[in-house]
Parts: sequence; C-alpha cells; structure tokens
Amino acid sequence: MNVINVSLEGKGSASYQIGIGYDIADGIGRILAEKQLGARYAIISDSSVSPLHGEAFLKKLHDAGLNVSLMEFPAGEHSKNINTVLDIAARMLASGVDRKCALIALGGGVVGDIVGFIASVYMRSLPYIQVPTTLVGQVDSSIGGKTAIDLREGKNLLGTFYQPSAVFIDLKFLETLPEREFNNGLAEIIKYGIIDDEGLFGLLEKEMPAVKKRKGGFPEHIVERCCRIKKNLVEIDERDQGIRHFLNFGHTIGHAIEAASEYAFTHGEAISLGMKAAARISGRLHGLPLQDRERIENLISQAGLPTRLPERIATDDIIARLKTDKKKDGDTIHFVFLHKIGSPLINGGVTEAVVRETIEGLRK
Ligand SMILES: NC(=O)c1ccc[n+]([C@@H]2O[C@H](COP(=O)([O-])OP(=O)(O)OC[C@H]3O[C@@H](n4cnc5c(N)ncnc54)[C@H](O)[C@@H]3O)[C@@H](O)[C@H]2O)c1
Repeated sequence: MNVINVSLEGKGSASYQIGIGYDIADGIGRILAEKQLGARYAIISDSSVSPLHGEAFLKKLHDAGLNVSLMEFPAGEHSKNINTVLDIAARMLASGVDRKCALIALGGGVVGDIVGFIASVYMRSLPYIQVPTTLVGQVDSSIGGKTAIDLREGKNLLGTFYQPSAVFIDLKFLETLPEREFNNGLAEIIKYGIIDDEGLFGLLEKEMPAVKKRKGGFPEHIVERCCRIKKNLVEIDERDQGIRHFLNFGHTIGHAIEAASEYAFTHGEAISLGMKAAARISGRLHGLPLQDRERIENLISQAGLPTRLPERIATDDIIARLKTDKKKDGDTIHFVFLHKIGSPLINGGVTEAVVRETIEGLRK
C-alpha cells in the first residue's frame, strides 16, 4: 500500500494518511487494529455498494480482530438529506455506538459526505474513516474533510469541515463501477491535469485509451497523482478560502448546465462542458494558447465525455442558473480560468455577453 500524508499540523485539524493500493482490505484491517482509532467500528454504506462489497469488507475487518458492524441506506443523491442523517443516528444509538467508536464510510461521495457529516455532529463528534468506492470518491471527495447534506433549496447547503482520521483507497472497488460513474471520475481527473499538472495531462493523453478499456485495473499512479494534488491544495487552504477554489475549474458553468438539464447530465458530463467553456473564455480573455484549448477538448472527447451542448438545454436557462450560483460574491461570479494548462487563475470580470456567446459556441 502506498501512503500519502495529509499534513494539517498547526492548522486546527489532525494530520492523516491516505493509503492507496489494489485489494488492500486485509491491510486496512491490520492498520485499524494497530491504530485503534475506535474501540468498535460501524461501517456505513449504501444499498448499491453494500450488497457488492459490504459483507466481504466486514469479514476482512472481523478477521483482523475488529469489533465491527454494517448498516446501509438507500443509494443516490436523494438520500443526502437530514432524514437519512436522523435515521442513521437513531440506528447508531440503538446499536450502542458511542464516542469510543469510529465510523467507516464505504461508498461514493454521497456516503462519504453523509458519514463525515454525522461523524462531525454525533455525540459532538467521533472519528471516521473514508473507504471510497467510486473514482470521484477516490480522487476527490474522500480527501479534504468537506462534509455535507443537501437542503430542498440546493446541494451541500448544510455541512461542516471535519477531516477523516484515515483514507483507504482500494482500486479493486472500481471493477464494479458502472461506466457513467467511472466517467464522472475521469472528468475530475482531467480537471486535475488542467489546473495543476501538465505532466499528468500529458500522461492522460497517452494512457486514456487503455484507461477507457479498464484492462489491468485503473492505473494507481494516476489516482495517486490526483490525491497528491488534492492534498496539497487542502494543506494550503483547508477551509476553502483561496487556492482550493481552483478545484472549481469548469464547475461554474458546469453546475448551471447540470441544473438546466434537470440532471439528465451527470456531474462529470456537465463539468466537461463547463471545462470546455472555461477553456474557450480563457483563450479569449487570458491568452490560453489555441493548442492547449484543443488538447483539453480532445482529451474530454477521448474520455467519452460530452463536448457538445444539446439544443434542448436553453442558454437563457443556463444563464439564469448561473445568476443564482451559491458561490457568487455579490453580483460577481468568480470563474477559474487558465493562462496555460497547469496554470490557473480566478477572475470575476466576465460579461454576460461573453458567457452567452461561449455557451452558444458549445453547441458546435
Ligand atoms: N466532500 C467533497 O469534497 C466532495 C467532492 C466531490 C463530490 N462530492 C459529493 O459526492 C457526491 C457524488 O459522489 P459520487 O460520484 O461518488 O456518487 P455516489 O456516491 O452517488 O455514487 C454513484 C453511484 O455508484 C454506486 N457505487 C459506488 N461505488 C460503487 C462500486 N464500487 N460499484 C458499483 N456501484 C458503486 C453508488 O451506490 C451510487 O449509486 C455528490 O453528492 C457530491 O456533492 C463531495
């Protein structure tokens, strides 16, 4: 198992390690038995992941001598709400989970966000461990301690910053991941190359055909490189007040497209269009070379992600959604743009006309 340290000393949160490898459940059991993060462990998963991996994972931890139980809630974003939190908390209470226990989030970003949220507030907090099973979870949501649930009014509106005590990334879980969920993760991976690491971007250009075939497992070095980028940003800006915003590349217009499509586009599909838009505006306003723009569009398309906006999603609707973006600062919407691949900037001075023309340009 390769290990990455997330070092948050002196910043109010404890540091932790990310373990990465293939088929590492035995190792996870051994490490937890050694570290004794909890006297008892409650694995919380969802109704898709639990039948596929829950029992086997539970057994591995039992075999390592841990006192551990498993519970699940219905899979999907619609579960990411206060009712699920109340239901799980009641079940935890009934089964005697107290502050000496630790939670284990076994699932994608939804499970990770909910379990992290519960861990931050249940009995005024208890430790939790992230075991992400989606590509999005493995390269993004399990690292960094953002926890959240959705309100009727919008996504992630109720949440906390609460770091996990450990993250274990087992690439074997990806073997059962449906294609569309896999592609969601690829969109985030491409984003890391674009905002931080031209070398990773080049590697993806070379390896994308093999990655898409999913032969021989997902390349560990790619996941590890993404985790290192995320951990560096989190170490510098744990509370998301500056440099961590770079992770929003493609997300401003992407979120608006996702909502305007009424979620017919997945998150990864919508941010792919958002990244294409941000690259085009970067070309117009910030000197992103045409060659870089073309490379970004080609890689998105090579990954099997969309590069064209369908006519049925109206530009006016996308603009209206942009105006209600929750990350807006007064009337200014901050976008992440690029000078070149690997060199991002944040800028709020984009006129509606430029945004409108760019969105229209996504139809070609
Ligand atoms: N906290 C953060 O920093 C952060 C970052 C990015 C995204 N998020 C959040 O993460 C969520 C999206 O996460 P996601 O894309 O992982 O979605 P998800 O958790 O809904 O998982 C997608 C689907 O795949 C299933 N699944 C998971 N692992 C599987 C496996 N190994 N095999 C088969 N099926 C599997 C799940 O049950 C679900 O149906 C959103 O709620 C988003 O807001 C949080």
